[in-house]
Amino acid sequence: MKIALASDHGGFQLKEQIAAYLQEQGIDYRDFGTDSEESVDYPDFALAAAEAVARGECTLGILCCGTGIGVAIVANKVPGIRAANCHDTFSARMSREHNNANILTLGQRVVGCGLALDVVEAFLQAKYTGGRHACRVDKITAIEKKYCGQGMPGQ
Ligand code: RB5
Repeated sequence: MKIALASDHGGFQLKEQIAAYLQEQGIDYRDFGTDSEESVDYPDFALAAAEAVARGECTLGILCCGTGIGVAIVANKVPGIRAANCHDTFSARMSREHNNANILTLGQRVVGCGLALDVVEAFLQAKYTGGRHACRVDKITAIEKKYCGQGMPGQ
């Protein structure tokens, strides 16, 4: 397993804590930045990490910003990505089991580090259950294919 890790300045401290946690756990990761609390644009970092997951270079991704929302919106524009913004362990587990989420997003300004690391653990330990959920995830992929490269409906 290899994790794609990224943040903007608003999620930088949390990303560093997650990197330390992954290292402690012996989980391989690639850090796509940012590398300080200097103001940057979250799409740049979220996109690089999401593309690495979409290309299969990384198994899963964890993205942090102030809320986890901006990076989730960016990641979900990348074909093949199912990013879930989760701040509790139940949602994190379900995002893997039912939605086959491949990216977890977290908001440093929303949760404390202790809870965030529990959420990361729940996300990484859970497995997609498939079964009745598979046709729903397939429908998400079909929607993605329908609109990929064609702009928004009505445009
Ligand atoms: C940066 O100030 C902040 O907007 C960003 O980290 C994130 O919360 C956006 O969704």
